[in-house]
Amino acid sequence: MKILVTKNKEEASQKAFKLLQTDIINGAQVLGLATGSSPLGLYQKMTSSSVDYSSLISINLDEYVGLKPTDPQSYHYFMEHHLFAQKPFAKSFIPDGSNLNATEVINHYNQILATYPIDTQILGIGNNGHIGFNEPGTPFDSQTHKVKLTLATINANARFFTSSKDVPTEAYTMGIGSIIKAKHIILLAFGEQKADAINKMINGKVTTAVPASALQQHPNITVILDKQAASKLA
Ligand code: F6R
Repeated sequence: MKILVTKNKEEASQKAFKLLQTDIINGAQVLGLATGSSPLGLYQKMTSSSVDYSSLISINLDEYVGLKPTDPQSYHYFMEHHLFAQKPFAKSFIPDGSNLNATEVINHYNQILATYPIDTQILGIGNNGHIGFNEPGTPFDSQTHKVKLTLATINANARFFTSSKDVPTEAYTMGIGSIIKAKHIILLAFGEQKADAINKMINGKVTTAVPASALQQHPNITVILDKQAASKLA
């Protein structure tokens, strides 16, 4: 695991952007993408650059169940707004949250992941150590599945909604097994509230109680932190 502790989000996002660029120059064609606040600086770098992503494929980690792609709280909308409108990809995949037939969504997404193996995966991490929407207890070999979000995750995500009652309680997510198949993983984490999860991910026991601890077994992962997120590292 390569760990980079940076001055701030700006420097971290610049480093992530450079690493992604290097991967693309070296032939990466399929990018795994995340939503949330952690990759926003990276997406800003991507949209303000002159780099053309229109021959690449993107595959997002997850989507809330029950939200239409046009819903401003959906991850479809988030990606369109923060990246795809300015930088279109050849194909962009996000689980279809408006399809309540979970088996159909899951089979389709697993097929997509089998067709387009991810070269570089961008990740954030939840305060409870989740990656994607893989909550504590998720098996490390899991594929795409539907999850019930924990109260901790619903509360953490409530900041994007008018009230925590509006936060969907279920999501479709790529599994840990699919995430760790990526050739290179770039994980971004910022702020004090991530410090505990980051320390457990890096120095703790490899356990399903901390989903991100599965990443200790990955051969090529770069973790980019600000000082606050790195503050509990031994
Ligand atoms: C988002 C995702 C989540 C987030 C995590 C951190 O697609 O899969 O695992 O990466 O919840 O969220 P932020 O970056 O908002 O702190």
